[in-house]
Amino acid sequence: MQTKIEKINPLSAFAVNNIHESDTLPIDFLSFREKLSLATISHPRKRMEWKGARLAIKAALESIQLPYPGFYKDSHGKSHAMDGFGFVSLTHHGDLAAAIYHKEMPVGIDLERVREKTVPLGPKYLDRKEMDFLGNDPFLYSLAWSVKETIFKCQGRKGISLRQNILLQPFTATDTVIKGRIYGTDFADHHYAVQVISENDVILTYTVW
Ligand SMILES: CC(C)(COP(=O)(O)OP(=O)(O)OC[C@H]1O[C@@H](n2cnc3c(N)ncnc32)[C@H](O)[C@@H]1OP(=O)(O)O)[C@@H](O)C(=O)NCCC(=O)NCCS
Repeated sequence: MQTKIEKINPLSAFAVNNIHESDTLPIDFLSFREKLSLATISHPRKRMEWKGARLAIKAALESIQLPYPGFYKDSHGKSHAMDGFGFVSLTHHGDLAAAIYHKEMPVGIDLERVREKTVPLGPKYLDRKEMDFLGNDPFLYSLAWSVKETIFKCQGRKGISLRQNILLQPFTATDTVIKGRIYGTDFADHHYAVQVISENDVILTYTVW
């Protein structure tokens, strides 16, 4: 997938970085707390992913003329802006990192590679109704995985099961927006629309409002 910075609308933007390219960029924009967090990551690749995702947020924020406020993680692992404004979500996969920001609404983002094993693993993260329309196509299964992870990250709380609490409406390989909802929890009846961008064997999905 190409690196990109895209303003979705005046309130929201996302960016995709190559973690090798972003690794050479300065990190002076990070908050003191974030610099401490980065210093505790010893694995070089994990450091590159972490840094790439923060540079992606910075680029997304710049595209809607916002400064980088610094982010902290809650007890579920979800990031929040230190100035209390807006919503963010991060992802990394392979050589890519991506982030989305929205000024007013919660957001989720996920990067995945199309993988054959998503088909045999289907019963772990899909409902029977979903497997009925997905057939046996690894692209569709990987896409369903990515959309569910995106919805999971948008709601942000551990304990939500991809299989039992997130249900996708039927979709095909040509759909660019996939709908889903959370059900069967106290967070039920939240509905989500998830944008799909696929390039070669890489899938990027993010929530749209
Ligand atoms: C948390 C989770 C969504 C991360 O997804 P992943 O594909 O492993 O990793 P990604 O690179 O796409 O995303 C990582 C980012 O998710 C974010 N994240 C972690 N927990 C989160 C949460 N509860 N809510 C929102 N975002 C979260 C973090 O920002 C992290 O990036 P960072 O470490 O640089 O800060 C995933 O591990 C998970 O728990 N999925 C759902 C649970 C599940 O049912 N899994 C198994 C099904 S068979």
